[in-house]
Amino acid sequence: MNLQKRLSSVVLAIFLSGWLIAGLTAYTMEKRNARQDTVHTAEVLLGTAIAARSYTSEEIQPLLIDKITKDFIPQTVPSYSAQQLFARLGKKYQGYTYAERVLNPTNRQNIAKGWQVEMIQAFIKNPELKEIIGERTNMEGEDFLYVAKPIQVQQQSCLQCHGKPEVAPPSLLKTYGYYNGFDWKLNEIVGTRLISVPTLIPKKQAQKEVFSYLLMIASVFLVAYTTVSLIVQHWILRPLDAISHLVEQVSLHRVENLQLPDESFDELGKLSKSVNRLIISLQKALSNQKRSPHKKQRGDNNNRQLGANNKQQRTHDK
Ligand code: HEC
Repeated sequence: MNLQKRLSSVVLAIFLSGWLIAGLTAYTMEKRNARQDTVHTAEVLLGTAIAARSYTSEEIQPLLIDKITKDFIPQTVPSYSAQQLFARLGKKYQGYTYAERVLNPTNRQNIAKGWQVEMIQAFIKNPELKEIIGERTNMEGEDFLYVAKPIQVQQQSCLQCHGKPEVAPPSLLKTYGYYNGFDWKLNEIVGTRLISVPTLIPKKQAQKEVFSYLLMIASVFLVAYTTVSLIVQHWILRPLDAISHLVEQVSLHRVENLQLPDESFDELGKLSKSVNRLIISLQKALSNQKRSPHKKQRGDNNNRQLGANNKQQRTHDK
């Protein structure tokens, strides 16, 4: 494997692991943010439902209370107005629902079932528990997040219609009967109000954001990688190739007209200059050798002489 391939595989391995970690971190963060946003939306909507309830009981009920002796007017019921408000909202924003689910409701449509019963029992068992947040999939296979809060009979006035049937307005008994939604006690937890918000849109949004984030990192990497590859190719690999070619020529004793381009001032430029000087010395040495081959002989004699002198010197020192 050549240098460029080795460099590329190392850089690619680093990039891919970094990319994976960045992707996973971003996905976890985005998912958490999406959930927080959804919970916030659900809580705001739940606040809206509670506001609609109190508006009805404080402003509408006193106005109509005298008229409900003859025919019962469900519009005076706080629970009815909150649920009606969301029935209208749900037409525009699909999947956003509000429900009040009770173990013993006045309107049988509001009866708690399955997991809702379990939730009410959890609220009854633990009065400190003020909220349950969870995710579920509905019959249509759509995921939604719900925020549930307990419904507690906090006012004596509620018992006017939910206490004993004998004290309830006759019009209410005429409409809803004698058997449902009575015998509630003051401060008793009778049910739960539930807001559901679809999670598909925020989840998709989170995925889209992670995808564009990863795409952005990949494009930055691609530009950086291409630039660095070109630099390595131009400034490192090409000069190295030239040096290795030149050394190969020298090894074959072809030293004539050999010179490396040495304009650059970096480490490889310095190396090229040194190699050029080495070639010049080599060329000179070889041409000297060619011109006077007998000089070599004399040189050898001189060396031998020098060696003898040195030996003599050492014995003298002793
Ligand atoms: C004037 C009578 C009246 C009063 C006062 C009243 N309610 Fe109701 N309530 C009703 C009727 C009627 C329904 C059924 C409405 C419908 O058709 O959905 C109902 C429904 C509800 C429901 C939905 C579950 C069910 O029973 O169908 C809850 C929860 C509820 N009321 C709680 C309360 C609380 C808490 C208070 C006191 C703050 C209160 N109500 C005061 C008449 C009353």
